[in-house]
Amino acid sequence: MNERDTLKINSAGHLEIGGMDAVEIAEKFSTPIYVFDEKHIRDMMRVYKNTIDCEYGGNGAVLYASKAFACKAIYAIAKQEGIGIDVVSGGELYTALKAGFPAGNAYMHGNNKLIKELEFALDSGIGCIVVDSFREADILDELAAVRGIKQRVLVRINPGVEAHTHAFIQTARTDSKFGFGVSDGAAKNICKHVLNKKHLELRGYHCHIGSQIFEKQSFVLAADKVMDFAAEIKNSLGYEFAELNLGGGFGVWYNDEDPKLKIEDYADYLKTVINAIKTKATEHSLKEPYLLIEPGRSIIAEAGITLYTVGAIKDIQGIKKYVAVDGGMFDNPRYALYQSKYTVLLANRALDNCTEKVTVAGKCCESGDILAVDVALPQAESGDILAVLSTGAYNYSMASNYNRNFVPPAVLVFNGKAEYIVKPQSYEDLVRNDLIPERLKNE
Ligand code: LLP
Repeated sequence: MNERDTLKINSAGHLEIGGMDAVEIAEKFSTPIYVFDEKHIRDMMRVYKNTIDCEYGGNGAVLYASKAFACKAIYAIAKQEGIGIDVVSGGELYTALKAGFPAGNAYMHGNNKLIKELEFALDSGIGCIVVDSFREADILDELAAVRGIKQRVLVRINPGVEAHTHAFIQTARTDSKFGFGVSDGAAKNICKHVLNKKHLELRGYHCHIGSQIFEKQSFVLAADKVMDFAAEIKNSLGYEFAELNLGGGFGVWYNDEDPKLKIEDYADYLKTVINAIKTKATEHSLKEPYLLIEPGRSIIAEAGITLYTVGAIKDIQGIKKYVAVDGGMFDNPRYALYQSKYTVLLANRALDNCTEKVTVAGKCCESGDILAVDVALPQAESGDILAVLSTGAYNYSMASNYNRNFVPPAVLVFNGKAEYIVKPQSYEDLVRNDLIPERLKNE
């Protein structure tokens, strides 16, 4: 476990998060439940912001990548911490606005933003849109013209850096649905295209090389390549960029195959990238760009845990022991999607010796509904509270009502007190949008 003040085993031998006993949270709010540690979220937002302030003279901003976990409360926290956000859909933008988040501090991404979403973004006064196709540039220019505005945009560049991570979440290889390749000239062409648009203001470049990346060199290489590209564009088109957005991607601890990074280690990541940018700016005589980063996972993943109650236990002699819980792939599809590995423990018996290896299964009608394979646990019994750690990112945000199960509620814990930030669903919620056509109502 990647322990910290607000995530540890307490003297009762229970898991404790945000100063509150996890077993008490399970009793009070029932299971399954997502639990978020507010202090850790804030600490992570601050470490990035402070690093930009101290190491880069405040010439930049942190944008929380809300795809990792979006709900009103997280936007309220981001607003209080004075950071921006990135949104990738009308839905994320709407949620942020409903939380009182200023649209001007939001950047919008997406390889195929809908016209409706672009209109909504412009009408809300979005800060910046990251253009990802020629068609989008055309549409955006027209929409901005109609509104009599000049919209700030970045163009998404694919620097061709291959990050070492799961193939499904690599986004910047040459073969990618995202961005414009530098090597094939597409990136330069989109710059020309956007520079010719009367109602678009090209602020600079965006790139994102993937997610759950630990090698600092990947980020440095990406920064180097985009800076080289910026120099080439300055020399050939006479355009000097103002902003560089390097996306997200810093890795987090899920299980003991991952490094246990401390909060300060993320400052080091950012410092290394900042130094690379400064060096390149000097080398190419470019102005140091306004720097944006978009961390999602590293802000929210380790801040979150999921609590379940153990139900059925099936020991298939000589083959496998299944410990089933009251959640599953509907609250965490990441094992089913990516074979992601998690750390699992019994929150009510966290100091008991782990005496067996089990597979933690969910309650869905599907064999692939697994949360963790071959994990060490004490002998689990029905009624035990099972905790899965580092579930804050891409769990709730990718949850579904598969099998018409409820997406679990979420609580935010701070100083030993937990409050709902996402309330429980009801059966009525599940049928709220269902309609029966008249002709089906005949007996
Ligand atoms: N910016 C852009 C443009 C992105 O595409 C992403 C993630 C981020 C920022 C945030 O990256 P982070 O700091 O969270 O690594 N569903 C997958 C993750 C997909 C990430 C997609 N883009 C998962 O569960 O691992």
